[in-house]
Amino acid sequence: MNDRRKKILNELGLTPRWKIRADSTLETSVLNDNATGLNELTGDSVDATSENPVYQMSWKQLKLAVSQCTACSLHETRKNTVFGVGDEQADWLFVGEGPGAREDEMGEPFVGQAGKLLDQMLAAIHLKRGDRVYIANIVKCRPPNNRNPAITEISACRPYLSRQIELISPKLIIALGKVAAENLLGRSDSLGSLRGKIHDLSGTPLIVTYHPAYLLRALPEKAKAWKDLCFAKATMQSLK
Ligand code: URA
Ligand code: SF4
Repeated sequence: MNDRRKKILNELGLTPRWKIRADSTLETSVLNDNATGLNELTGDSVDATSENPVYQMSWKQLKLAVSQCTACSLHETRKNTVFGVGDEQADWLFVGEGPGAREDEMGEPFVGQAGKLLDQMLAAIHLKRGDRVYIANIVKCRPPNNRNPAITEISACRPYLSRQIELISPKLIIALGKVAAENLLGRSDSLGSLRGKIHDLSGTPLIVTYHPAYLLRALPEKAKAWKDLCFAKATMQSLK
């Protein structure tokens, strides 16, 4: 292991080192979680077959639409919309919950403390922001006082994320934390029970792990997050 990698793993609290086991793909039976295509939480169709004009938009149109969006009350308190960032043809799509204070100021996802940890998590599996990686959130505007986004806000914002997913067409989606997992998969099982499996989001494999902000508060869970990342990496390799 080179020094830089050792340092990253140390910072992540992930030493001793986890190895990607050759048999980790054994756990990868595809679970068709969303066979009905319906999101249990919002009742919305997960497939982008709606007549909503968002589903016809180009990247440019989509970015403009989000920057001017007033579809939910989060627009009243935001400083900036946080569209998402990265490689528009990424293999990896990481989805968080919603912007925090720093992201609201900068207009970019995961630039605060949790973002630093996310960057380290990416580095640990040899990825970096913008390079075959796209990072987005369930909602594009900051919920005041970092509360969870409300169901109405999530459903108002959902077409934007769905269109991003269509345009990127990632090989693998990583849901960061409970809010992202629940809303992408349309089920409210515990995060623990959603980890370690390959779910299906309208044909795209999806893996669930902890949110980096949660990991900052729950250090012992970092080892589990590392395991999830190794699982994700092995899954990506098996998709090639
Ligand atoms: N937490 C999130 O879920 N998303 C961000 O962009 C920043 C923190
Ligand atoms: Fe529009 Fe989404 Fe912002 Fe609500 S959170 S105002 S739906 S961009």
